[in-house]
Amino acid sequence: MAAEQGLSLVDLDRDGVDTAFREDVLQGLSEPQKAIPARWFYDDEGSELFEEITRLPEYYPTRAETEILTDRCDEFRTMIGGGRAVVEFGSGSSVKTPLLLNCIDPAAYVPLDIAGDFLRSSADALSAKFPGLPVYPVEADFVRKVELPIEVTAMPKLGFFPGSTIGNMVARTAVDLLRTMRATLGEGSQLLIGMDLVKDQAILEAAYDDAAGVTARFNLNLAHRINRELNGTIPIDALRHVARWNDAYSRIEMHLEALRPIEFGVSGHRFSMGEGDTIHTENSHKFSRRSGTTLLLAGGWTPRQRWTDREERFSLILADATVPRSAP
Ligand code: AVJ
Repeated sequence: MAAEQGLSLVDLDRDGVDTAFREDVLQGLSEPQKAIPARWFYDDEGSELFEEITRLPEYYPTRAETEILTDRCDEFRTMIGGGRAVVEFGSGSSVKTPLLLNCIDPAAYVPLDIAGDFLRSSADALSAKFPGLPVYPVEADFVRKVELPIEVTAMPKLGFFPGSTIGNMVARTAVDLLRTMRATLGEGSQLLIGMDLVKDQAILEAAYDDAAGVTARFNLNLAHRINRELNGTIPIDALRHVARWNDAYSRIEMHLEALRPIEFGVSGHRFSMGEGDTIHTENSHKFSRRSGTTLLLAGGWTPRQRWTDREERFSLILADATVPRSAP
């Protein structure tokens, strides 16, 4: 609806400031352990830097997931079957989507994304590749239940959530999202979801702290964005990119660490950091077969099939919407 009216989902105040961004930053910088949600990485600059990350030698997840999508085409066709409406959550530039659509003979494609312009241009590009396929882009924030276009309501659905984006969420939020996806897709739906796997700590840390320094620029861009959009005075040269494995929580954490004591302003508020203090900017949880299964079950999805790349670095899991039962 918003898209048809040419409205955006982003709330801007009189000065053109994204109010949700300002709230998250001011709140997050006021906590004892400063923390800002990872979704704010992705302004134009950050989205471009992420594309660059996916091509880095150290950043294996994109290549590993693409390998699975390419190698297991026949099995997807058998297990998913034709005639489904494929609903992609956070479609972005939709680079992996053609690989999947080519395998399964879908009835429709519904990309969901919060960034309207980006959504429509990538939907157009995809339509050009699949001339017979109805494409219905929906500008929506998929953390809330999405009303799917009337044209696909009667079709069986396949949710597609690649990239291990689920790993950016703490368990509580991940479960909420999985349940919401189930509500959006309905009974009888399937979900194909990417989950990155636990592996050697050195490999994980290198994937998030590459030699060329692209991930460092990606992380530091958040501080630049705060300075640009929220009238910030963060001394960027006093911050350093840190990526470290948190074993207890099975996740890579990214932080911005102060190299010396600093004070700065954001939107008229004052903040300070001591030497060694950090702003926690991202979690990227890594899963085992069991932890992935537990998370999916908690979110109302029963895993049916699981594929990994040849080196077992990354997994794609096909799950069915579970009918809740108290005992088997
Ligand atoms: C887009 C969330 C899958 O966690 O691996 C890459 C983001 N951050 N390098 C990830 C990211 C640093 C990425 N996801």
